[in-house]
Amino acid sequence: KAIVVLISGNGSNLQTIIDGCANGSIPGYITGVIANKANAYGLKRAVAANIPTTVISHKDYQDRQQYDAVLKEAILQYGAELIVLAGFMRILTPEFVQFFSGKLLNIHPSLLPKYQGLDTHQRAIDAGDAEHGCSVHFVTEQLDGGPVVLQAKVPIFPGDDASMVAARVHEQEHLIYPLVVRWFCQNRLQQRANEAWLDGLLL
Ligand code: GRF
Repeated sequence: KAIVVLISGNGSNLQTIIDGCANGSIPGYITGVIANKANAYGLKRAVAANIPTTVISHKDYQDRQQYDAVLKEAILQYGAELIVLAGFMRILTPEFVQFFSGKLLNIHPSLLPKYQGLDTHQRAIDAGDAEHGCSVHFVTEQLDGGPVVLQAKVPIFPGDDASMVAARVHEQEHLIYPLVVRWFCQNRLQQRANEAWLDGLLL
């Protein structure tokens, strides 16, 4: 399948999908990487892998509707059959999400439905949680609220700071995101309304 990856920063999750496509574990190919920031390091990863890139800066547009309209066109030009949000730090409009419904995946650094939004690692520490993790989910109009496909848990140890927990979570992100993308590209994964299904089984 043709995959388009959206990023805002480092792109370490993008890298795992680049690698998965290259080594054949993901039966797909990245047709383009789109960033909302020109200095996103992930753009360099794409260039190194000979993947076309586009920068669409949110600063060039007056509102979300305009931004998302331009983003939508870029994604269509890349012929996307799957859109992977990998650290793309933008809220998408309901129109955009509906248009690509069933084809939008995101990774969020918490055990959803816990800790939607930002600062998830610090919030988990502050709450005294012994467990934390990450979730891959389909994107719906509800921010960080779409159906979860796969989660990975990590421990939080006494004395951990947010960066230590973040590193532990990141390691798991790099395992579960390419796996979910693999399932999608194998036509095994579907979104039906607010549910995620794998091999005909409700997740
Ligand atoms: C990840 O922690 C992801 O969960 C969050 O943004 C971060 C992206 O990291 N949404 P990277 O750019 O893939 O390295």
